[in-house]
Amino acid sequence: MFKIAIVGAGIIGKTHSEAILKNSECELVAVCDVDEAKAKEIAEIHNAKCYTDYKKMAEEVKMDAVILNLPHFLHCEVTVYFLEKGINVLVEKPMANTTKECDEMIEASKKSGAKLAVGHVQRYYSAVREIKKIIESEKYGKLCMITEVRNVNYVTEKRPKWFLKKALAGGGIAMNYGAHSLDRIFYATGLRVEEVHAVTSNPVSDDDIDVDVQMLLKLTGGASAVLTYCGNRVPGEYETSYYFTDGAVKIKGSELCLFEDGKYVNYGGTANLLEKQIDEVVKWLKGEENELVTPEYGKEVIGVIEQIV
Ligand SMILES: NC(=O)c1ccc[n+]([C@@H]2O[C@H](COP(=O)([O-])OP(=O)(O)OC[C@H]3O[C@@H](n4cnc5c(N)ncnc54)[C@H](O)[C@@H]3O)[C@@H](O)[C@H]2O)c1
Repeated sequence: MFKIAIVGAGIIGKTHSEAILKNSECELVAVCDVDEAKAKEIAEIHNAKCYTDYKKMAEEVKMDAVILNLPHFLHCEVTVYFLEKGINVLVEKPMANTTKECDEMIEASKKSGAKLAVGHVQRYYSAVREIKKIIESEKYGKLCMITEVRNVNYVTEKRPKWFLKKALAGGGIAMNYGAHSLDRIFYATGLRVEEVHAVTSNPVSDDDIDVDVQMLLKLTGGASAVLTYCGNRVPGEYETSYYFTDGAVKIKGSELCLFEDGKYVNYGGTANLLEKQIDEVVKWLKGEENELVTPEYGKEVIGVIEQIV
């Protein structure tokens, strides 16, 4: 049974704990959050230890890995701390605020021998996996263009405040959702970004982050991608289209849609992203082949976002 700890018991920390509960090969042994009530709520369900100081937790608890679910500016500092203690780290996306921080994290992993992975989860959508197969098979010919629209009312009371401060979050919607989109592109197409053009603005609040973003990416091999995020008070939407020489496919939410007989046909899809990721964490800890994202890949994602925010 692998022993896992969590630092950051907020929105995604809770979802990670639920995924751990469903996996028979690992257990949650400790939870840490500066907000004790949040840590306690999760710890009680798992009969795990509860901390408000991650350094104390690292001293007192024996663990095989820690999952970090923290404001982005803490990713580097806390990751390096655990790696230097010889503890394997899965850090949530985005890997860090800058590529310089990513380098520090990669260096700490190399020096200590403890493993580092980044929690990019787009690859666990069944629709994204299907599209990867379609691209590889050239069923619809050559991939030419990708468009993605992701709209959400970004500046709301419900969003933790740190997401709205550049110093804490590294950027706004481009850092938060851009990390997902780039992972989706990198994973499904195998392509990388050669050129970045972007326009950002924030017409809805005084926060120093990007809320509206349009980016045009030239991908390796000649394909391109246009990503639009609108964080204004608009209806939510999440749709990615892939245009080939001889057809088109689309992901709407988590559902796969194929263009057949002149119209899109919806084939459905599954998510359970963190449950699938924790299965990969177990393989990673066993030293088996797995699909977790390497820190070098996480750094490539930040390298693109750094040019936009
Ligand atoms: N994979 C996904 O789909 C997904 C979804 C949501 C968030 N995320 C990522 O997860 C991370 C956390 O996001 P969230 O939405 O859960 O944010 P959140 O604000 O809900 O959670 C962060 C938690 O960290 C705690 N914290 C802050 N400083 C701390 C410290 N020094 N020690 C211990 N705890 C501390 C806060 O009290 C808070 O509970 C971010 O990197 C975010 O981008 C990923």
